[in-house]
Amino acid sequence: MDRVTRLSQVEQTRGLAGPPLTPRTAVIWSVLRAELERRPGAELTVVDVGGGTGGFAVPLARAGHRVTVVDASPDALAALTRRAAEAGVAERVRAVQGDGDALAGLVEPATADLVLCHAVLEVVDDPVPVVSAVAGALRPGGAASVLVAGRAAAVLGRAVNGHLDTAAALADDPHGTAGPRDNLRRRYDVEGAAALLAAAGLVVEEIHGVRVLADLLPAAVADGQPATLVELERALAARPPWRDLAAQLHLFARRPA
Ligand SMILES: C[S@@+](CC[C@H](N)C(=O)[O-])C[C@H]1O[C@@H](n2cnc3c(N)ncnc32)[C@H](O)[C@@H]1O
Repeated sequence: MDRVTRLSQVEQTRGLAGPPLTPRTAVIWSVLRAELERRPGAELTVVDVGGGTGGFAVPLARAGHRVTVVDASPDALAALTRRAAEAGVAERVRAVQGDGDALAGLVEPATADLVLCHAVLEVVDDPVPVVSAVAGALRPGGAASVLVAGRAAAVLGRAVNGHLDTAAALADDPHGTAGPRDNLRRRYDVEGAAALLAAAGLVVEEIHGVRVLADLLPAAVADGQPATLVELERALAARPPWRDLAAQLHLFARRPA
């Protein structure tokens, strides 16, 4: 059984404590929890590259892990620091201002049990050195959680809103952008994202779609049936073609032991 489906059932029956599960986060948390459960009770060393205001870092710290957030934005790090203090986990969260590709000089190489890199590769100048830095930060056997923007969802989204030229540009552009006014520098399909991680020496273990449906539904439906939507997102996340049409693609990969 797929990890997300299995964890969904585990969570339902055991009622595991954790952050609120939304259509944007439920699939990712299922994958992360399965990783955390491999070493129950252990205090893991986590690095969150481009971790922003701590949406993942703070819950991971609350779960007992040590998290270093490396982010280019001082404002985001200030918000992270406040959030960590409010959650009572300030001593387990370290905020470091810096570039993702300079990770080797900011955190001890080959020490992290888990590195998160969520919604970052589509905004940086060059994703290759960032992924290489993610791999370099991991200890042998450590895992990477990488979330990237999906190209197919962007093409469909532009088209259904009537922006057919933009949809065509996105579909044909080698980087999956719609030109200089696009707010993202690139988008990925499953094969391209997996190849990027493999080129850095990471072994991709799982790929899920995140927000397969959430962005397509009228707000009244999404807001009116949140639990049902979360379960449907989980049910579709690992299954092509729905996986491949998601707004974001989540890749879970490991540095070989
Ligand atoms: C879209 S936000 C994602 C935040 C968080 N990871 C999440 O999923 O909610 C992108 C984050 O990457 C940071 N960022 C952008 N370029 C970066 C770089 N070159 N190195 C490190 N962080 C960067 C931004 O400051 C921002 O906090």
